[in-house]
Amino acid sequence: MPYKILQQKVSGIISQKSLTVGNRLTQICELLQSSLDFYDWVGFYFANHEQKTLHLKAYAGEETDHTVIPFGKGICGQVAVSNQNFVAEDVQAQNNYIACNINVKAEIVIPLFKDGKNIGQIDIDSNTSNPFTKKDERFLEWVNEQISLIL
Ligand code: SME
Repeated sequence: MPYKILQQKVSGIISQKSLTVGNRLTQICELLQSSLDFYDWVGFYFANHEQKTLHLKAYAGEETDHTVIPFGKGICGQVAVSNQNFVAEDVQAQNNYIACNINVKAEIVIPLFKDGKNIGQIDIDSNTSNPFTKKDERFLEWVNEQISLIL
């Protein structure tokens, strides 16, 4: 599905004020995971800045054991600290990586900012090698900006 159409669908989900934020996040995960064949697992983690941990709030794809991730650990934990996008073209080449599923080949994590503060992130695992492009980065940054408006 083209990213333009996906943007319209994400906007439609975001504007459903009768749903909880958690429900809307789950719907966005399900939309992205089912619409792009190289998005095999899609989830949102949110930060607890006091405990320095990330907590899984919504996801689509296989269940994961990694519902709480310390800042600094894995790709997700590194993004909690760096405030930068992280595109791991080949997760096997990463020495600070938490494996959720042996089929995963690549991962992208984009921080989510509210009022300039890194409060969470969208995390996507792919079973395809090196599938993510700048288009994914821009699209996912946009998704996170839309979500920050309802938080
Ligand atoms: N691979 C991630 C952990 C989360 S799972 O992908 C769901 C990481 O290295 O932080």
